[in-house]
Amino acid sequence: MSQGQRGTWGSGPGFILAATGSAVGLGNVWGFPTQVGQGGGAAFVLVYLIAVVFVCAPILLGEVLLGRYAQLGPAGAVRKIIPTGPWWVIGALAVAAGTFILSFYSVIAGWTVQYLWLAVTSGLEAGPEGATALFGDVSANGLRNIAFTGFFLAATAWCVRRGIQRGIEAASRIMMPVLFVLLVILAIRSVTLPGAGEGLAYYLRPDLSQVLDIGIIGAAVGQAFFSLSLGMGALVTYGSYLKRRQAARSPALAIVGIDTTIALLAGFIIFPAGFSIAGFDPTSGGPGLIFAVLPQLFATLPGGLIFGAAFFLLLSLAAFTSTISLLEVPVAHAFDRWNWSRSKAVLVVTLFTFAFAIPSVLSFSGVPILANLPVIGGTFFDLMVNVWNEWALPIGGMLLSLFIGWIWGKKKAGAELSLDGAGFPSPALFGFLIRFVSPAAIALLIILRIVG
Ligand code: PFF
Repeated sequence: MSQGQRGTWGSGPGFILAATGSAVGLGNVWGFPTQVGQGGGAAFVLVYLIAVVFVCAPILLGEVLLGRYAQLGPAGAVRKIIPTGPWWVIGALAVAAGTFILSFYSVIAGWTVQYLWLAVTSGLEAGPEGATALFGDVSANGLRNIAFTGFFLAATAWCVRRGIQRGIEAASRIMMPVLFVLLVILAIRSVTLPGAGEGLAYYLRPDLSQVLDIGIIGAAVGQAFFSLSLGMGALVTYGSYLKRRQAARSPALAIVGIDTTIALLAGFIIFPAGFSIAGFDPTSGGPGLIFAVLPQLFATLPGGLIFGAAFFLLLSLAAFTSTISLLEVPVAHAFDRWNWSRSKAVLVVTLFTFAFAIPSVLSFSGVPILANLPVIGGTFFDLMVNVWNEWALPIGGMLLSLFIGWIWGKKKAGAELSLDGAGFPSPALFGFLIRFVSPAAIALLIILRIVG
């Protein structure tokens, strides 16, 4: 992409909104509670928070600084700093992660749109059995899900092809605050339900023996990367649309704070409401957890269906601002590297993604080989989530932190941070975290998971 075509954010808040739009999505409202449910409740939450502060926040700031400095996406930024050598892997991983994450993400986004449709047209089943059966029906209908996934991908492609700034910046400006207010209302309702205390204990009181469970640590670190859109250069790409004199440090901190707050809020909604339902087992929900719990929560509110419809509308939009950034990474690469036109890049990447979304959709419709993979076990959908969230993003994050800390180097990265003036973290603290703490923590995790 030539500099003229790349464009820049209209304003500092525009960047914060778009980057927060990328970060806040299904990962917060669907992924976080699902993973807490599967992985040990409060122990998961504690590890997650530690990972966000010590491992992820420095990498997030590093990604934005790298993008702002190079004025290029991840592959271009790496090449600008060191034209030869093995670091091209960062760019390759980014393109692959963007494409494959989009392929399963759009499946869940398709369910969200269907729940919106149901809330508006026929209402959502509220009884415990009804709600679980409804999710079963929605997720099992292969053809309908292929259509909704395709629709979501097509809408994303349309937006990315047009260039994103005016639509997305403007939409996020209204949508994010409304989503936040709605989440707060639902959380208040949820924690005041009879029986909510058990859910709060599950969510907030960690079983310390589980904090050292390597499976839980791996899932929590992976979830933190996913939720912050980290490890695949999405924030390098968005940072590259900043002007050199626009701030990077405080927006980076704001993105981390907002994203984490929204994930925590989602937990305050799902677990108290879930435990208020007799016989609730958070581990058995799987990907359907929030879809089974939420309709029952809406039913306890006056005008519940309006809440339901508003909630699924906002969740669909939050997913949309995330899918745009997922698609933007491979598209910008095809543009930058192979000189494709934006239209061609969007078309090719979208079709490829759609082809890979189909087996994820069909994992839920009783296609035996996809519902229980030979040798590995589990569904094709689970395999995708596991490979890309729990492995590819942390590995990408480790490579990026090593690259920023050691190849670009603490002096130059620190000088880029100093353009923002004095503040927290200082260049020295940032250099320490990105050179030692983040990469060592991820490396240790990877080694323990391989040997364990
Ligand atoms: N952060 C998004 C979410 O939490 O839903 C998912 C995501 C978007 C991951 C963009 C990675 C990315 F580049």
